[in-house]
Amino acid sequence: SNQPLKLSVIGCGYLGAVHAASMAELGHEVVGIEVDVEKAEALAAGRVPFFEPGFSELLRRSLDSGRLTFSSDITAARGAAVHFLCVGTPQRRGEYAADLTYVESATAALLDVLGPGELVAGKSTVPVGTAARLAELVAERVPDAVLAWNPEFLREGFAVQDTLHPDRLVYGIPDGAAGEWAADRLDRVYARIVAEDTPKVVTDYATAEMVKTAANSFLATKISFINAMAELCEATGADVKQLADAIGHDDRIGRKFLNAGLGFGGGCLPKDIRAFMARAGELGADQALTFLREVDNINMRRRIRMVELARQVCDDSLLGKRIAVLGAAFKPDSDDIRDSPALNVAAQLQLQGATVRVTDPQAGDNVRKHWSQLDFVETPEEAAENADAVLLLTEWKLYKQLDPAAFGRHVRTRRVLDGRNALDRETWEAAGWTYRALGRRNV
Ligand code: UDX
Repeated sequence: SNQPLKLSVIGCGYLGAVHAASMAELGHEVVGIEVDVEKAEALAAGRVPFFEPGFSELLRRSLDSGRLTFSSDITAARGAAVHFLCVGTPQRRGEYAADLTYVESATAALLDVLGPGELVAGKSTVPVGTAARLAELVAERVPDAVLAWNPEFLREGFAVQDTLHPDRLVYGIPDGAAGEWAADRLDRVYARIVAEDTPKVVTDYATAEMVKTAANSFLATKISFINAMAELCEATGADVKQLADAIGHDDRIGRKFLNAGLGFGGGCLPKDIRAFMARAGELGADQALTFLREVDNINMRRRIRMVELARQVCDDSLLGKRIAVLGAAFKPDSDDIRDSPALNVAAQLQLQGATVRVTDPQAGDNVRKHWSQLDFVETPEEAAENADAVLLLTEWKLYKQLDPAAFGRHVRTRRVLDGRNALDRETWEAAGWTYRALGRRNV
């Protein structure tokens, strides 16, 4: 049936906030539970604590409908038909493994209010085996409640679209009648999405947990594959962009995620592949994932190579050179700077004696807060003032649309390093710039 349900969403960070508002958009009555009182209040007032295209409109719409509320008090979740666990699982400090502190504390809090006939649906990315353990805790406390694992695949920058129109639904459920009941309840939550013939995989807990980490590992591997090819292209004078186009025409390979450059960062891919390796080790299957260590290494080497290229182009010394860094977010259309390749490169340049100015259209607040040692400016023109080299490190549209001739008037020397293979080489060269890029002929 298409009856709206009462839902709770526990943890209103990036994933939870988007999920909560999206579920209200689907017609459900949703309460978002967030321990950070300030964050809960901001969301309740329609203020989005991060940048995500289209999200602030969705949040306001959901709040205005009266179907979405926020609270810092777990008792507000009482009586919900489904409780979604959306807390973060960051990388543990100094280790590869995931930090499950928030999963543990959220589950403990939820167990105090969980009632019979209610479903707990985990959405966080967790080490395989976590769901089975949480299911035992649920069964001990509330024998008539059920746990399902329902991973989320949203991309930053496309979070709303990915949540309302996902590529697939994955339900990890227990065997037997309890499992069928859980799948049926999730179908009711996602009725509109199910009706759009969205592919659905109904499976066991471990598979559902692994779908997420396997998908992210594959994406990371695809990026590192093309970046390894970029290293070879640099060694031979071949062109990685044309190579990617050519192999991408084979639809078994596909062109997506074959953009060579500075590599991947963000709050998911790096920590997910590391946590996956750590978990494989615990399970005695570490050999199966040793290739992911190489994927990580290739990815980190791109950052070093970028700094090297900057030094080369600046007459072999960065000391006292003025460098403009365009981009700080780990990817465009996001203000997220977690494990940002761009900031890592900016910091390395500074350590080698360069005077670095960083700019980004959205990540300014985060950079000032977490990277106060870097000089942040608002516009690319300010960053480029008297620069000896300009580095494009996050491929914002704004930067791709710069007019190289006009922009060139700000710099001291027209040298541009394209860390994302995003600029049109010919137009920049025609405007008198020396163009260098990762994985391309650099003469
Ligand atoms: C990723 C997954 O795509 C998503 O399905 C999952 O739920 C969470 O992790 P996200 O971290 O938002 O999403 O970013 P994504 O668009 O996947 O990009 C990840 C990183 O890879 C970025 O740093 C991006 O710049 C880089 N990237 C991506 C490349 O370097 N080359 C590419 O071809 C594609």
